[in-house]
Amino acid sequence: MSFANSHQIITNQQGIHEHLVDVVEKHLKHPFQKPYQSHSLEGFKLVAAEVEKQGKPIIFDSCCGVGDSTVNLAKLYPEHFVIGMDKSGHRLNKNEAYEQHGVDNFMLLRTDLNDFWRLALEAEMLPEKHFILYPNPWPKSKHLQRRWHGAAVFPALVALGGELEMRSNWRLYLDEFAAALAVVNKQASVHEFNPQPTITPFERKYQASGQALYQLKAAL
Ligand SMILES: C[S@@+](CC[C@H](N)C(=O)[O-])C[C@H]1O[C@@H](n2cnc3c(N)ncnc32)[C@H](O)[C@@H]1O
Repeated sequence: MSFANSHQIITNQQGIHEHLVDVVEKHLKHPFQKPYQSHSLEGFKLVAAEVEKQGKPIIFDSCCGVGDSTVNLAKLYPEHFVIGMDKSGHRLNKNEAYEQHGVDNFMLLRTDLNDFWRLALEAEMLPEKHFILYPNPWPKSKHLQRRWHGAAVFPALVALGGELEMRSNWRLYLDEFAAALAVVNKQASVHEFNPQPTITPFERKYQASGQALYQLKAAL
């Protein structure tokens, strides 16, 4: 495989998934009731205490990976408190970031968003802005329910509200997310875009390999 093709999406899906609307409607009818993991509850308490202490409007950086985007968003929005979340461990150390970038209006949390989003909604901890940058695409048709719009937590994600921005190198993921939003009467726009500067490691990698990048925006 040549470098130019690396990380490119390979899918067996031709267009919006034929079962998308059924899956979204199923999740709207049957609320997601999976019990919370104990470490999700503990993590949520830490965030709630910090949010209270900061007293600033909040931004969620969901699926933040190593947290580069969280620091970049904290720089871009100094009057907000940015919460970067990912289920994998973080390599980024807050003190290190502070020394490098001079920002400390952020925190990073290792958590499963299937729990965190529901906990935030129950506690009415609602983001003014919500970024989901380069979520795992799950390009095989049979994995629709692993994409955020096909997941049982989708109604909670929508109910959190705020200005949602998603980015992907797979346009169909975003078109499908927009189609799922239409099921709940929300509008979204999807455009090709050229991030200047890039704010996440995946974004840098995709751009360096010459791939087109796309952005979804929705006022939830
Ligand atoms: C393709 S990476 C993108 C990371 C980063 N946003 C970037 O652009 O460099 C997708 C990230 O989503 C995270 N993720 C996937 N499912 C998750 C879940 N249920 N809860 C929290 N994070 C999740 C993964 O751990 C991974 O770090």
